[in-house]
Amino acid sequence: MSNLLITNGLVIGARGQEIQDILIRDELIVTISPQINPPENCRIIDANAKWIFPGVIDPHTHMGIPIKSGYSADTFASGSPSALHGGVTTILDFSVLESGQTLRESLNTRIKLAGESLCDVGIHVNITRFEPEILAEIPDLIRSGYNSFKVFTTYAEADMMLTYDQIEAVATIIGQHNGILMVHSEDNDVIRRASESFAGGTQTHPRYHGLSRPAEAELVAINRLGEISSRTNCTIYIVHLNTAAGLAKATEYPLLKVETCPHYLLLSEKMYERPDGQMFVSSPPLRSIADSEALWLGLQNGQIHTIGSDHCPFCLGDKPAGTPYQDIPNGMGGVETLFPTLLAQFMERHLNLELLVRLTSSNPAAIFGLDHFKGSLKAGFHADLMIVDPWSISTNWESTLHTSLDWNAYTNFSAVFPETVIRRGEVVIDKAIMNSPSKGLLLKAGS
Ligand code: URP
Ligand code: ZN
Ligand code: ZN
Repeated sequence: MSNLLITNGLVIGARGQEIQDILIRDELIVTISPQINPPENCRIIDANAKWIFPGVIDPHTHMGIPIKSGYSADTFASGSPSALHGGVTTILDFSVLESGQTLRESLNTRIKLAGESLCDVGIHVNITRFEPEILAEIPDLIRSGYNSFKVFTTYAEADMMLTYDQIEAVATIIGQHNGILMVHSEDNDVIRRASESFAGGTQTHPRYHGLSRPAEAELVAINRLGEISSRTNCTIYIVHLNTAAGLAKATEYPLLKVETCPHYLLLSEKMYERPDGQMFVSSPPLRSIADSEALWLGLQNGQIHTIGSDHCPFCLGDKPAGTPYQDIPNGMGGVETLFPTLLAQFMERHLNLELLVRLTSSNPAAIFGLDHFKGSLKAGFHADLMIVDPWSISTNWESTLHTSLDWNAYTNFSAVFPETVIRRGEVVIDKAIMNSPSKGLLLKAGS
């Protein structure tokens, strides 16, 4: 049995902040109150003048996913230590449905790979084929704790797209069994029409990636998905929302949940004009500064519910300049910088830190059925937390990263990295030094 007492930290929760002591025994929080006497054989961490946040739950990562030309650059083994360094104690990743596989088989394959994760890890189930046998698997998967499914309204060329009618059929079943449907929401027809004007996608400038996937694509898709959510009574989670128009449309539908990502909040389409602009190619594309300011407003007025990294990184050599824009691997890294850059932004913009906790911990826990043991600092919950020195805000953090990647998008941004990170009671980052953490736990909704 191990005891750990954290004293005098300002504990920032979803609905308030207070100076508290936290007593942790093994994996769980035992007590949290203004003054706790240490039991015998107890390590004590003095958090005086520090801030304590719940561990981040990143609802959207892609560790080692297959793409046309290989795999995204982080595996669970390489991506999860960098996640921990950024205060992310739980990641939710996605299965990959290979041809001929059942959903259960695709899930089992992914679970095996996720066994390398040092973060706790949950898996959303990707549905990229529409077949009666696939639909028939959904109720049983939900019963066994895999209650979140993802579909795509685009990527037809990669054979991953479902039509809106097919999505409605999937949503009907998921809604009947109280699951949640996640949707990559860019209308394929809008993209096809916009791309036609670029004579087959031979342009190499990355700005064409943005021009070929206009904001209208998100608006059209969200309109259709909002209607589907109302007709099927299924909660639909819009992943990586990125436009002002899409956000305004999403607010019309009560069953839509909205996620955005750090790159849509912190970066803009201007990045495509840099000499390394191809590194910023992800789908959906980066947008205008006006779009990102609308997203910042959406965070503040509760229209956006979560922030996920959509961590799908590539190294410099994976995205050589001069590649035709349609062949540039899509995706960017961000799991390690997610919370540190956002915390710095929240401080600089004088935004409420409880809101940051809701967006990065308690809301993803509630939406994905983990909120009876994760997402808040409460007695009986997993001891997932980070201790932050607010005075350590700096732009000079790049050399401290644990990433295996040779590039990151947020150079020169302010960031506040945690000095201590605790995942299920284990001190995985101790005074900024990474220990050798044990493997993460496989998570299921509701258990
Ligand atoms: O460009 C991105 N975001 N790649 C990862 C897969 C996805 O669409 O989320
Ligand atoms: Zn996507
Ligand atoms: Zn994604």
